[in-house]
Amino acid sequence: MSAQRWAPPRWSLLHGAAAGHDFEGYLRRRAARGDPFAVGFPGFPPVLFTGTSEGARELFRAPVELLEPPRPNPIEPMVGAASLILSSGPRHRADRALLAPALHGARVRGLGEVIREATLLEIEKGCGPGVSWQVGGRIDALAASRAITLRVILAAVFGTGGDRRAEYAGAVTDFLAAFTTPLLVAPVLRRGMGGFGPWARFVAARERLDRLILADVARRRRVRSETDDSTGDGVGGVGHGGDLLDLLLDIRYDDGSPLTDTELCEQLRTLIVAGHETTATTLTWALYHLHRERGLRDRVVAELPAASGDPAEQARLPLLDAVCQETLRLHPPVPIVLRRIRQPWRWRGIDIAAGQTIGLAVGVLHGQPATWPAPRLFHPDRFLDRKVSPFEFAPFGGGHRRCLGATLAEYELRVVLATLLTGVRLRLEPGLALGARPRTVPRNLATAPNRAIHFTRTQ
Ligand code: HEM
Repeated sequence: MSAQRWAPPRWSLLHGAAAGHDFEGYLRRRAARGDPFAVGFPGFPPVLFTGTSEGARELFRAPVELLEPPRPNPIEPMVGAASLILSSGPRHRADRALLAPALHGARVRGLGEVIREATLLEIEKGCGPGVSWQVGGRIDALAASRAITLRVILAAVFGTGGDRRAEYAGAVTDFLAAFTTPLLVAPVLRRGMGGFGPWARFVAARERLDRLILADVARRRRVRSETDDSTGDGVGGVGHGGDLLDLLLDIRYDDGSPLTDTELCEQLRTLIVAGHETTATTLTWALYHLHRERGLRDRVVAELPAASGDPAEQARLPLLDAVCQETLRLHPPVPIVLRRIRQPWRWRGIDIAAGQTIGLAVGVLHGQPATWPAPRLFHPDRFLDRKVSPFEFAPFGGGHRRCLGATLAEYELRVVLATLLTGVRLRLEPGLALGARPRTVPRNLATAPNRAIHFTRTQ
């Protein structure tokens, strides 16, 4: 087959408005014209997307040395150049190999109690903006979910020794709110205006978060030197052994150098932000569907006693598992997965030049009717009797950059939902229970429902 050429549609206000109004819908409409399909982004290079499992397979199986994250990158101001999300080559491989053990198997299962306690604490004491857990009180699901997932990621990163959650909660919330959608999509706005304006507000919020992180780093360095636990083998007895901060402090590159303070901040900021916002959005959508689809909550609640309150067992409950999978299918919180091509490459029958960016539109892949009949319906039972391929279902991306926190996120979703459904009874507010489903809009690193999802606690 001869190679085809590709070009994105000319970016216009019309395209911008359509994408901003309903990003998933915009990608679906572009995909309907044929696969792969090109999309332009203002201020960034165009992207050639696939939404098919064949395209995903070729993308995730491409030679690793051919791929790198696209730069410039919309999220670079949030996570920084040293972030695992943006690094490439040997550096990416080394950092990933070092951090991975803290986010797998037994270490994640070891966080089961932390996850359960974080959820119970939120029910007992949670009182963030828009959240009242008293019977009859009104709960903003995203605010409550964020409070829980922030506690969990702080425990994974810094260990369970101290609780500076309140300080982090304020700093992280301001940091995320300051990175507004215009700053995300229009780099031209990223300049100071004499210390005023959205960019200056964002930089100040980032500095505040970094000050908190650096104070934790300094505390940990002190403890490690006092306990002579500088190998990070976890025998320090201070409640952190082998957490993500320990592992980052242990990193030594080939020339013997450790991470600088700036690099430490960027890696830690990445883990904190990537590790809680995505999971919180998914929890919010799962709660929405559990309480909207007739009889679904009751079916899941009927399944819970089999786990006897044990987080590891809760994570294996079939219907709860299916609800989490179906939520990630219908509302993938990271809607696009991107790779820049380093050398000329033929992909999907098209010659891709070095420096061009290709990607997977996750929502389009998850909406293929041949794989997912009635794809717009929330129907968790479809996951009960089938094994899915990683090229048909890819909420965590794939290949050598597949989400590092996927095991933690999957475990956390199930344990939080099981704990919430056991502890409280919620009712979705009438407008949401009966009205149209909220749309998905891009927000920071993840997407979110375009309007608040509110519940009332009834028991
Ligand atoms: C429901 C929750 C989550 C979803 C849907 C999600 C999704 C994703 C996706 C799609 C990617 C890009 C993968 C690719 O390029 O192929 C990614 C990367 C990443 N995620 Fe997650 N994520 C979630 C939770 C987490 C958690 C809890 C953590 C941290 C503990 C985390 C840390 C990361 C990191 C560090 C990367 C960069 C990996 C790399 O480039 O090597 N994520 N995530």
